Amino acid sequence: MTLLGQSIIVTGASSGLGAHTVRLLASRGAHVVAAGRRLERLEELAAGLANQPGRVIPVRADITVEADAEALVAAAVAAFGGVDVLVNNAGSEVQGGLEQLSRADLEGMLQTNVVGVFVMLRAALGALRESRGCVVNLGSTVVGRPPHGRFGYVASKAAVEAMTRALAADLGRDGIRVNCIRPGIIPSELRGMTEDQERERFSTGLHFGRQALSDVGRGTDIAEAVAWLAGEGGRWITGAIIDVDGGLTLGLADPV
Ligand SMILES: NC(=O)c1ccc[n+]([C@@H]2O[C@H](COP(=O)([O-])OP(=O)(O)OC[C@H]3O[C@@H](n4cnc5c(N)ncnc54)[C@H](OP(=O)(O)O)[C@@H]3O)[C@@H](O)[C@H]2O)c1
Repeated sequence: MTLLGQSIIVTGASSGLGAHTVRLLASRGAHVVAAGRRLERLEELAAGLANQPGRVIPVRADITVEADAEALVAAAVAAFGGVDVLVNNAGSEVQGGLEQLSRADLEGMLQTNVVGVFVMLRAALGALRESRGCVVNLGSTVVGRPPHGRFGYVASKAAVEAMTRALAADLGRDGIRVNCIRPGIIPSELRGMTEDQERERFSTGLHFGRQALSDVGRGTDIAEAVAWLAGEGGRWITGAIIDVDGGLTLGLADPV
């Protein structure tokens, strides 16, 4: 299955990994519905990709709202004839340990990272059954190596992994593949800084003691993995949890 002409929904496309993924998919000829709550950002992204072989349609949507999710799917069906791939990339994080994180903070993360994936999947299920399509969920390496003070986010991404495996089992007979990519540390706006500020911070070497490869991860590293899973390379892969992390999850030990 080539990416050329595929209809793909990418949530959380207004920044970071989602925007990188939209750029790469459009450059390979896939048609993309780019979703998020900040419409101006999506419009900017789409305008910058007007010359690419794939078309990009910006759609404002909150993934936790059923009507928005249904409108996203309807937009893909109307413009591109269906949904071949759903990339559940939108996510949010509030950091804090057990004594700092409020119940509202925890519920907010679970709403976006877990319920949002459910809402999107429910909305797209009919179209994915028709296309015998593919779902790519964005998890995180924090599930394998929990950092201090992030248990709420870790819990939400653990649920994404569990859902990935359970739904891969449920939907396999419909020909629908469900996989999860666990990014390592990729500079983005997730922690309240601009992507450039984050890149600057990581280039000082903060994490390199722990990561096997010494260079900073890029949004395109994740986008490439999404494209691979969505294309012919992923044809026989389902229920997989794939680390794309420069070897962060290896957990390099000090020499003893
Ligand atoms: N960067 C990393 O190091 C890293 C590592 C592991 C996992 N991840 C995961 O990768 C994914 C992308 O993260 P990122 O680093 O690119 O962060 P980001 O730049 O903050 O992007 C998150 C995106 O999610 C969207 N979003 C949040 N809540 C939403 C909602 N209710 N409805 C629709 N869209 C929503 C945001 O757009 P709007 O505000 O416009 O809605 C934004 O575009 C997330 O799932 C994140 O957990 C990232």
